[in-house]
Amino acid sequence: MPLVNTIEMFKKAYAGGYAIGAFNVNNMEIVQGITEAARELNSPVILQVSAGARKYANPVYLKKMVEAAVEVTELPLALHLDHGADFEICKSCIDGGFTSVMIDGSHHAYEDNVALTRKVVEYAHQFNVTVEGELGQLAGIEDDVNVSAENASFTDPAQVQDFVERTGVDSLAIAIGTSHGAYKFKPGQKPQLRFDILEEVGKRLPNFPIVLHGASSVMPEYVKMINEYGGAMPDAIGIPEDMLRQAAKMAVCKINVDSDIRLAMTASIRKYLMENPSHFDPRQYLSPARAAVKEIVSHKLKTVLGSVAAAL
Ligand code: G3H
Ligand code: 13P
Ligand code: ZN
Repeated sequence: MPLVNTIEMFKKAYAGGYAIGAFNVNNMEIVQGITEAARELNSPVILQVSAGARKYANPVYLKKMVEAAVEVTELPLALHLDHGADFEICKSCIDGGFTSVMIDGSHHAYEDNVALTRKVVEYAHQFNVTVEGELGQLAGIEDDVNVSAENASFTDPAQVQDFVERTGVDSLAIAIGTSHGAYKFKPGQKPQLRFDILEEVGKRLPNFPIVLHGASSVMPEYVKMINEYGGAMPDAIGIPEDMLRQAAKMAVCKINVDSDIRLAMTASIRKYLMENPSHFDPRQYLSPARAAVKEIVSHKLKTVLGSVAAAL
């Protein structure tokens, strides 16, 4: 089975009331942990690569590792560019064999976002590569861009139909209150998402796949473990799992998770090294770290996404 684009995955997810997990990958252990969980549970997944991941690992390595995962798992896996900032990075990923790209024009003026997204779609569709666009702006940190909560803006449902029709995108990321990173809400603040916006978007775009970025739940057990083993993380609040489940039953077909994987790995490595201070073989601490990635991804596939057995 070759790498796939997102068309079939999203069609089935929409009809089935579940979502596909889109997990960020940066190294071999992360790719293995995610895809081993997906294989055991027969779940399709999207492996996504940010500009930062490309810089860290070299896109050729990332692509070959994801291809290895396809060979080992025989699962429908998509290789996706996360937050493509311009046409050039999207083109480079399409030319390099990615099956899906995101062009993130959300910080541009509306008409500029339409024109840029349209240009990427025209190029991508020639190669059967699917395109995700974005309307509205999430708060938080992604690569070097830090959007403050004040500068974040919810998606305007009145724009979505026009945007999708004029750009030809295959899926649309919207802003309904999620944000990137581990600190999504202020201490003491009750997490809330604008389900009214999601519902309205769903009505205006029937059967169209919606994407939620910034959807880590920031599992408190990992933050606690990091701090128990020498870390110093302030309290962090993520998106409650029941809200994500609710979104997956609505129009949301892709849920992006990165921070939860980072936390799980870091907690595991801290614990291992604190408990085994004389060890220095990276395989010794990366094995439990990889197992921690597998565990958190299994949990997401079962509890949050509902995509178990969807690859059958
Ligand atoms: O949305 C951002 C993702 O968490 C990727 O993060 O740009 O630090 O690789 P990164
Ligand atoms: P988190 O920081 O909530 O994991 O979001 C990741 C993301 O949206 C990647 O595009
Ligand atoms: Zn994102």
